[in-house]
Amino acid sequence: MMILETQNLEYSYPDGTKAIDNVSIQIPAGEKISFVGKNGSGKSTLFLLLNGTFKPKKGKVLLGGQEISYSSSGLLDLRKRVGIVFQNSDDQIIAPTVYQDIAFGPSNLNYKREEIDKIVNKMLDYFGLQSLKDKPPHHLSGGQKKRVAIAGVLAMDPDVIILDEPLSNLDPVGADEILDILNELNHSGKTIIISTHDVDLAYKWSDRVYLMSGGKLIDEGSPKNVFSNEEQVRNASLKSPVILDFYHELEKRWLATGGQQPKDIPELVQLLHKIDLMRVDVGPDTRVGECVNLGVLYRDYSKDGIYEAVNSRVLCKNDDGTAVVEVNRRVLKPGIICVYNMESYDKDEYAQIVSEYDINFIGAMGKRSKERAEEEGIEIVCNSGVIDKSILNALTGNRCLILTSQGMVEHTSKRIRDYIKKSGIRLSFHPVGKSAAEIEENTKKRDEVSNSDVIKNEPPADIYDHGVDDEETCG
Ligand SMILES: Nc1ncnc2c1ncn2[C@@H]1O[C@H](COP(=O)(O)OP(=O)(O)OP(=O)(O)O)[C@@H](O)[C@H]1O
Ligand SMILES: [Mg+2]
Repeated sequence: MMILETQNLEYSYPDGTKAIDNVSIQIPAGEKISFVGKNGSGKSTLFLLLNGTFKPKKGKVLLGGQEISYSSSGLLDLRKRVGIVFQNSDDQIIAPTVYQDIAFGPSNLNYKREEIDKIVNKMLDYFGLQSLKDKPPHHLSGGQKKRVAIAGVLAMDPDVIILDEPLSNLDPVGADEILDILNELNHSGKTIIISTHDVDLAYKWSDRVYLMSGGKLIDEGSPKNVFSNEEQVRNASLKSPVILDFYHELEKRWLATGGQQPKDIPELVQLLHKIDLMRVDVGPDTRVGECVNLGVLYRDYSKDGIYEAVNSRVLCKNDDGTAVVEVNRRVLKPGIICVYNMESYDKDEYAQIVSEYDINFIGAMGKRSKERAEEEGIEIVCNSGVIDKSILNALTGNRCLILTSQGMVEHTSKRIRDYIKKSGIRLSFHPVGKSAAEIEENTKKRDEVSNSDVIKNEPPADIYDHGVDDEETCG
């Protein structure tokens, strides 16, 4: 439910300054809302329109879906439901003592004396003001005055509490205390609306942010959405939240998981890359702080069963010739090899395979496939030693397609599968096209027959050891 709304609101001061220009907002009940904008952007003026202090030149203000009435009874009702804490506490505090100031609102609502006393004492306790209750408010510090002003508004028990720059002039602990109170009030169901230039506060505290500039509303939404538009925030003469700036610097340096928007320090810490340590043998000349290239890791040493290029920095050296290094892993995803039977060539299907698998290396095996490929205008990158070259290419991350036909389809599939088994390297292999299922089935059968030949858990074979030239054997 929308508790407070404005429709095409316009307001100009008597000297002609247009302070609010066509502002339409919808504030859901129970949310924490921030209006953010530079000095003079219209925040205070808008707030004074929201509680009926100013009457708009054009447009409407609605409370609980009803247009507000500017009659004296209408305004009294409005101010009971929508309380405002002014930017400057001196504008708000009028009574000779703190007690009388907090009692001012309930007295205007014609409550009984005992009831007023009960409410005021509750507020004095809640805001820690009992010891100051008989003091003249103008003898209080800025932070104390702010608490008296908020207590005075809360004494009316409004549904919506509007606070214009509630944390300005407060020390950090005083600001935190006020924020705790606002959060508690919000928990008890009150809608809290604040104005601030403090983008860090608006970003981490609000459920919803309204960005104002020159009397206009220029953006609204979740803090993450509003503050992710850096250019717009700059155009409104504001800065990005520090936590986002800091995160983007860490992201650029690969120190944090990318593409996120941490809201606070705990969220940022969650995104930091964890330090990865390893104990390795190093040469006698290796020094602390030096970089050591650990080459490519795979199998049990690599995460996710894929290749990783690993660099490391020596953190400390041990007497036994080992060192503790901080590891920097860069994932090298193996490429893929697809096998396609040219006997069942279909132009559309072929085009779809090339696009779907993002193929960038095409080899053809056997006369028939080569001729067929030529007829179809397929550009062949490799036409000899196709299997080995495809494996080599796939190992460096390329996406290979082997075009073959007849018995060579199964031969090719088996060669690649055997390589994958023997090496323990997880290359991704896909029979593709109409005959894919058939290729898969036949290769499996051949696989079962010759399974006893496959040496399990062998150390990774050097790929150059596979010296079979496809062309000579099968062409
Ligand atoms: N009494 C006034 N008479 C004429 N112009 C005024 C008056 N009060 C404010 N203005 C003008 O209205 C515009 C909006 O002012 P407003 O005080 O609403 O801005 P704000 O966003 O609250 O600024 P700040 O962050 O400094 O509190 C400004 O251009 C300001 O100069
Ligand atoms: Mg203001």
